[in-house]
Amino acid sequence: MNAIVRLEQSSDAAAIDHVLRSAFPTDQEARLVELLRKHQRLRLSLIAEIDGVIVGHIAFSQVTIAGSVANPTGLGLAPLSIVPELQRRGLGAQLVGEGLRACERLGAGFVVVLGEPEYYHRFGFRSADLFELKNEYGASEVFMALELKTASITPGLVRYESEFSNLTGAL
Ligand SMILES: CC(C)(COP(=O)(O)OP(=O)(O)OC[C@H]1O[C@@H](n2cnc3c(N)ncnc32)[C@H](O)[C@@H]1OP(=O)(O)O)[C@@H](O)C(=O)NCCC(=O)NCCS
Repeated sequence: MNAIVRLEQSSDAAAIDHVLRSAFPTDQEARLVELLRKHQRLRLSLIAEIDGVIVGHIAFSQVTIAGSVANPTGLGLAPLSIVPELQRRGLGAQLVGEGLRACERLGAGFVVVLGEPEYYHRFGFRSADLFELKNEYGASEVFMALELKTASITPGLVRYESEFSNLTGAL
């Protein structure tokens, strides 16, 4: 199954909210995206659309590596969601693939994600431990990184935008 993937437009907010609320067990991801949008912290927000209906969403926001002198440009992938009735048909993979290509075009050096390793390894994400990257959530094996530019990751603590601070668990 293939969808049209495009940038979020202002009129898409309600439909994206619906996707998030239907895909996740609680409303915390929907509230997170709402806050990131309100504070203009959605660095990249893409939707997947089939026959004019929004069925999936992926967001990227800026992350920083605390203490890094090099100050590399990194993005955090979160959240990713597909409406339940269309899951496991390749739409999530399409959004991740097109999202990562868009991150490259934006000039990002690397992308991090907190999620299922089994799912994200197929896109080239590897354990963040290999890059000596830590995160603020105490997560280890579910925290992964992908270098878009060689040697763009410097060891340190990855900080997400402040809107993430009320969240618990992997996205
Ligand atoms: C996770 C999610 C975005 C994947 O998108 P999708 O379109 O359903 O997945 P794709 O079709 O791209 O990939 C399917 C494969 O991903 C894997 N997969 C899907 N959901 C998975 C999950 N929750 N955990 C682990 N692997 C998963 C499986 O290997 C599956 O292959 P299979 O059907 O042959 O077993 C989607 O299922 C979703 O929105 N889930 C609820 C929200 C969520 O948990 N998001 C967080 C992502 S970290």
